[in-house]
Amino acid sequence: MTTIRPLVAGNWKMHGLSVSLAELLALKDRLAAPVPGTDIMVCPPATLLAQARYGLRGSDIKLGAQDCHPLAEGAYTGDISAEMLADAGASAVIVGHSERRTLHGETDALVNAKARATHRAGLTAIICVGETEEERRGGATLEVVGNQLRGSVPEDAQASNTVIAYEPVWAIGTGLTPTQDDVAEAHAFIRNELGRLIGEAEAARIRILYGGSVKPANATELLAVPHVNGALVGGASLKASDFYAILLAYRRR
Ligand code: 13P
Repeated sequence: MTTIRPLVAGNWKMHGLSVSLAELLALKDRLAAPVPGTDIMVCPPATLLAQARYGLRGSDIKLGAQDCHPLAEGAYTGDISAEMLADAGASAVIVGHSERRTLHGETDALVNAKARATHRAGLTAIICVGETEEERRGGATLEVVGNQLRGSVPEDAQASNTVIAYEPVWAIGTGLTPTQDDVAEAHAFIRNELGRLIGEAEAARIRILYGGSVKPANATELLAVPHVNGALVGGASLKASDFYAILLAYRRR
């Protein structure tokens, strides 16, 4: 089996003022001894990207953004393009997070266009998929995730510019996590579906992250699940000490 370099990304969501950059600098200090073989990323609000880039000079911590507009520029008041995010220091963009799908009505087609925009700007798209609690109870998890993948992942996606994040909606911010078996089933299914969509070779190398209530206490067991190639961390990424404690699971790997 191919060895896949894991990625641990922190999604700050709509949290963070200039003063919060202190957490990023604390993380940089702790990572003076880097975690071997693991990519580390923080996705702060777009307003902090440029300052964060400045603060992280000399560190291996990468920066990502949380959303983008599909177009490069235009009369779209309030929107930010992938090119602008690249210019501000991002190397990746989270697209199709369930909070955007639910609260902003984003469709698979729009998420697909945003992923393509991210690629156009030379960035990595972190495409999120995941079922709601109702869908899981109704036994529709794999059908829902399959539909999201088919709709959201561009045909020409490659392991070098695309990451998939499996985030069960009911596990986000709730402290609940699926069993290891449930995560294993979803991740194996995602890799298999990707094989159909973008070809076996790319699918075998693409990173599939788990997201939803990842904490220092469960990071090791989640990482141990087959086809889990890292984590997308929400709440626990806001504090350098917690995020670093999650990264320790990767050092022990
Ligand atoms: P929590 O880790 O806070 O559950 O959030 C997960 C998430 O939505 C990351 O994108």
